[in-house]
Amino acid sequence: MQIRTFAAVALAVAPAAVSAAGQLGFAVGNTNPDGSCKKQSDFEADFEAIKDNTQSTLVRTYSSSDSYGNPCNTPSEILPAAQAAGIQVLLGMWPDGGVYEKEKAPLVDANVEEYGDTLFGITVGSEGMYRGTYSQNELITWIGDMKATFPSTKIGTADSWNCWNNGTMDGIIKSGIDLVLANGFAYWQYQHISNATATYFDDMAQALAHVQEVSGSIDGIHFMSGETGWPGDGGTDAGAAKAGTDNEETYFNSAVCAMLEWGIDLFWFEAFDEPNKADAIGDDGQVASEQYWGSFTSDRTPKFNMMCGA
Ligand SMILES: *[C@@H]1O[C@H](CO)[C@@H](O)[C@H](O)[C@H]1NC(C)=O
Ligand SMILES: *[C@@H]1O[C@H](CO)[C@@H](O)[C@H](O)[C@H]1NC(C)=O
Repeated sequence: MQIRTFAAVALAVAPAAVSAAGQLGFAVGNTNPDGSCKKQSDFEADFEAIKDNTQSTLVRTYSSSDSYGNPCNTPSEILPAAQAAGIQVLLGMWPDGGVYEKEKAPLVDANVEEYGDTLFGITVGSEGMYRGTYSQNELITWIGDMKATFPSTKIGTADSWNCWNNGTMDGIIKSGIDLVLANGFAYWQYQHISNATATYFDDMAQALAHVQEVSGSIDGIHFMSGETGWPGDGGTDAGAAKAGTDNEETYFNSAVCAMLEWGIDLFWFEAFDEPNKADAIGDDGQVASEQYWGSFTSDRTPKFNMMCGA
């Protein structure tokens, strides 16, 4: 993974650095541990756990369907639960593999804009440019269609920090996008926990500086860290990056809390363990478990203290 010098860091100005701390959000899956689609009551239980144990009032999802493409109608299930709980939702849709329209229909059916501030925004795709599962032109077309369909809603996309930094996403940055979500995992960069916070800051600073440069504005686009996290006990090691709940807690308390203090909004990946989730494949082709990245177990028990500064 290419790491530039710290010169890049000096260029980045955190949009909210002088005014406010960043907002902490949680990534939440839309299926239960048994593989069934989460219903409104499942999301209600998710939100209760998040509100009881964290300072967060924001979550993001990835798809309207389950990982086999079966409809979960996630927008219709999650938004009423979120509204009742005072949680905002950044709704994700997963257009890979020609299912854009299939992912869009549940958003339309749910009348998502009628939920007002409960709907934080919509993201089209997550790391699809990085994986090469769709093209820049497709993504620009889809984002344009979302903006036309939901004109009062902030529309964005998530991709890996290096794609935002190295020119891959420049056409997207210039396309009138509202939200940029840059994912950054020191873990996937095989960093020892002792260097993980520095690596995450370097990643985000580079991505933010590039987005600012290409957009010609410090805050014209809402820049967020779309995902960061560390696998807990049961997870896979990645070189010097060792899985384990102690390291996960350390990463949360140092990298996450400091990034929020710098003024960057971020999503912790992820809220709840997903014991049935398929393995992920890293940059070097290494297979790694994605099952134990939750800061809560799958039965919603917190693994550690998630209160920054407390
Ligand atoms: C940008 O970074 C991604 C992820 O590392 C990589 O796959 C891609 O080839 C890079 N593109 C350029 C133009 O360097
Ligand atoms: C620690 O992280 C910094 C920032 O990403 C990087 O430049 C450096 O190479 C890392 N150190 C090691 C030993 O990998």
